[in-house]
Amino acid sequence: MYSKSHFRLVALQLFSYRSLSTVSGVPSCNRKIRPISKMCGWQIHSYGSLDEVGFSSSLKMPTLTSPNQLLVKITASSVNPIDVAMIKGYGASVLNAMRCNHIEFPITVGRDFCGEIVQKGLGVSSRDLDIGDEVWGVVPVHQQGCHAEYVVVDRYCLSKKPENLSKIDASAVLYAGLTAWSGLYISGHLGGVLGAISPVGGGRGKKVLVLGSAGGVGTLAVQMLLAEGVEVYATCSSDAVESVQNLGVPYVFDYNDPEHVQNLANAGRFDIILDCAGKGTEYATEIPWKFEQYITFNSPVLKNIDDNGFATGMYQNAMSIVRNNVAAANAQKGLVKWGYFVPAPQGVAYLQKLVETGKLLPIIEKIFSFEQTLEAYARVEAKHLRGKIVINYN
Ligand SMILES: NC(=O)c1ccc[n+]([C@@H]2O[C@H](COP(=O)([O-])OP(=O)(O)OC[C@H]3O[C@@H](n4cnc5c(N)ncnc54)[C@H](OP(=O)(O)O)[C@@H]3O)[C@@H](O)[C@H]2O)c1
Repeated sequence: MYSKSHFRLVALQLFSYRSLSTVSGVPSCNRKIRPISKMCGWQIHSYGSLDEVGFSSSLKMPTLTSPNQLLVKITASSVNPIDVAMIKGYGASVLNAMRCNHIEFPITVGRDFCGEIVQKGLGVSSRDLDIGDEVWGVVPVHQQGCHAEYVVVDRYCLSKKPENLSKIDASAVLYAGLTAWSGLYISGHLGGVLGAISPVGGGRGKKVLVLGSAGGVGTLAVQMLLAEGVEVYATCSSDAVESVQNLGVPYVFDYNDPEHVQNLANAGRFDIILDCAGKGTEYATEIPWKFEQYITFNSPVLKNIDDNGFATGMYQNAMSIVRNNVAAANAQKGLVKWGYFVPAPQGVAYLQKLVETGKLLPIIEKIFSFEQTLEAYARVEAKHLRGKIVINYN
């Protein structure tokens, strides 16, 4: 039987754990005074500005719910524009419908990570992955994210970290890299149907223009294309021209220079224009440049459903893609498509191969500590990124 003093002790502990999260607003993750079933992390309990994001040192530790899952202790994670957008409510309708339990809050954001396996389900063979292995991985957008000390993910979402990458670098590749890979290979069929792993070098004879080549997705996309032997054209802002050239891109255009429009038109027809600058679908009809395929990662799908419900939203989405494809065809341009992040093991294997052969390395603009996660979000919210923003948990 429990005594009165036992209950008082438990009450005191609960109080102290809660108060830890709010002490003068400064997050502290003291592992010595925290019970093993609790962890530190950043969460929202409602949508809004970054003020909604709160730190807590008493979050419930995630647990495995299927034999093919693993529990990972995070060592580093990157911040992507989707994290800030989700805090503001982007995609809420669809993502909530995709959640198994339909419990919306709290939400932990954070979509890619590097970490160490601390627990694995019985369905994961030790010959495949074992406790203590260093891994890199992604978290699908409808699942609890990795801006916390621990995350649970399915086996297909992670693999062993490439040995030649640091933890920081490894945390910065997969979300943006799988977005670029899916845009080029699944949407764009560059080097094969349905994103089958392309033999590196399979893009010879192709010409691709990357818009937004200085950002997280853009810096990885141009490296992937160069590795494939594609003739790469890229746009970025004036201050980033030199760094994109340093990645090996032969034709870099400052989009603030009015002459870049004609100069790019002179380059002829592009096999793919990859929009990593958030320009969107309509932009395909506005630009004078000719293309076989225009692929944008700025799709209106989730926003239309958020704003107008599923039926009307889907109708608007269908109308948007048809309208823009008709307009593009009338202007003797090619197909207009949307590209998406896809957590595909083939994509991870492809990126791993490029990393291990020294053909791909993430560009990191700034590293924040775990305690500075809010500042990291603010940096992504401010835009004009030059590569990736990373959170270091150690
Ligand atoms: N659909 C999906 O599943 C998915 C997944 C990942 C990302 N995304 C979207 O894809 C886009 C790229 O993501 P990201 O992580 O790379 O974002 P990011 O790191 O913020 O990069 C965007 C880059 O585009 C540049 N830019 C802005 N306007 C430009 C223009 N007119 N021409 C050329 N460059 C321009 C920005 O710098 P300056 O403003 O200084 O030029 C920045 O370097 C974002 O819109 C993101 O929301 C979608």
